[in-house]
Amino acid sequence: MNMTEAFRATAPHPFAYLITRDAQEKCNAMGVSWWTFAAVNPPTLAVCVGNKKHTLDVIRRTNRFSLCLPDQSLREQARKVCATSGAKVDKVKELGIELTAGQTGFPILKKARAVFECEVRQILDLGDHSLCVASILAFSEDQEQEALRTTEEGYTL
Ligand SMILES: Cc1cc2nc3c(=O)[nH]c(=O)nc-3n(C[C@H](O)[C@H](O)[C@H](O)COP(=O)(O)O)c2cc1C
Repeated sequence: MNMTEAFRATAPHPFAYLITRDAQEKCNAMGVSWWTFAAVNPPTLAVCVGNKKHTLDVIRRTNRFSLCLPDQSLREQARKVCATSGAKVDKVKELGIELTAGQTGFPILKKARAVFECEVRQILDLGDHSLCVASILAFSEDQEQEALRTTEEGYTL
């Protein structure tokens, strides 16, 4: 099957920054569109992260992330977030990603339509990606912001 055609056929998809913080307190953001709500009680979401991604390494070690839906004004920044790796670049500094402390104290994106602060419960290896299933510890939103979505092509911004 052709996954690119499948992405296009189902686009646009909600897009998010997956924000992590490593043991040295360094924060990173990766762009994700493969995420979904997964349970109501307890509030749960799931996100698929490539097995070679820097973000997955950090999640495996810390079990925490925030999933933040960036405002549409951040489209250019979001493209760069997806085009670089936190293993090589300090994206927060280089791309001017503005973070603040969320309700749990975990870093979240300032200009976000919706924010989910999460703790990972399970990681399931699916092949080239792993499904990270996480409890939503806190939710916040800003109705003044408009969530960024992928283009009609699917896997692009
Ligand atoms: C629109 C779009 C959506 C993406 N969604 C995902 C995703 O859901 N999962 C994933 O593993 N990578 C996804 N990526 C790729 C990552 O954002 C990209 O590889 C990023 O550089 C990884 O960052 P990191 O190395 O700092 O972890 C997406 C890219 C784009 C352009």
